[in-house]
Amino acid sequence: MSRPIILDCDPGHDDAVALFMALASPAIDLRLITTCAGNQRPDKTFLNARRLLALAGREDVPVAQGAPQPIRRPLIIADYVHGESGLDGADLPEPTVAASSERAIDAMARLLRESAEPITIVATGPLTNVAILLLAHPELRAKIESISLMGGACFGGNYTPNAEFNIYVDPEAADIVFSSGIEVAMFGLDVTHKAQIFAEEIDAIAALGTRTGEVFAGLLEFYGRSNTPPFLAPEGHVEGLHMHDPCAMAYLIDPSLFTMVRTRVDVVTSDGPALGATVVDYNGTRSEEPNALVGFDVDRTRFVELLHSSLAAFH
Ligand code: RIB
Ligand code: CA
Repeated sequence: MSRPIILDCDPGHDDAVALFMALASPAIDLRLITTCAGNQRPDKTFLNARRLLALAGREDVPVAQGAPQPIRRPLIIADYVHGESGLDGADLPEPTVAASSERAIDAMARLLRESAEPITIVATGPLTNVAILLLAHPELRAKIESISLMGGACFGGNYTPNAEFNIYVDPEAADIVFSSGIEVAMFGLDVTHKAQIFAEEIDAIAALGTRTGEVFAGLLEFYGRSNTPPFLAPEGHVEGLHMHDPCAMAYLIDPSLFTMVRTRVDVVTSDGPALGATVVDYNGTRSEEPNALVGFDVDRTRFVELLHSSLAAFH
């Protein structure tokens, strides 16, 4: 029985891998892609999602463009990681299907309303679209099975010392999502920094001898240019590429890959050095009810096997 999902994403190199994992898996029924602003500007992430579907031969999947900026802050983009296009490093085909004019919130609401069963939302970018959906359509919350998201961290950050990029871009949206009462599976840096792919594993993707293998080898080579080793990495340490977003998708395909802890997560929305931090009550010191499953470990070998087999499923 496949799980119906909406993928809200900002492709984005690692978003692209998460998308292909979804398309390849019999466990996932990808009903809709909505795009958000984050890795690049909204027009670019929208085009990138449509180009990736053209590469996969799956332009049957509807794509809807979301909010152009965070709920109350100026947009920050990660072009220093994902490049000018948002998917630098490979030549992607142009879409052959005209862009839909339906906005993401309307497409999400219509799908949830019409679906006979609840739908899982996978969010791999800033949570602006998901938050707006929850605010605009409280009557549809019961049709959301759960939210599996890449964002945050129990310890540390990658955009500031305390905040991970997706949460930092729109902390108000993240606060709305974590406070919604909807089951959240959070894949923060604690686990995504362990979800590494190494050079020889990227070479194996290139060796697939397919257009998809060639494209993703190029994308991962570009993505690797901004890869950073851990603080005080020992001399000679080799850090693999962090496959952040695929964690949020892989969990739905094979939850046994991950070690998850149910706990309380709160988001800092006040300006200052902690803005965008996800405060994870990992040692149960708080009285508040737990509101999330938080990932802390991953079986890296099996995770990369799933990643590789997902890409190998395409021409
Ligand atoms: O911090 C990692 C997250 O920021 C990932 O979703 C990546 O695609 C970027 O959006
Ligand atoms: Ca992303």
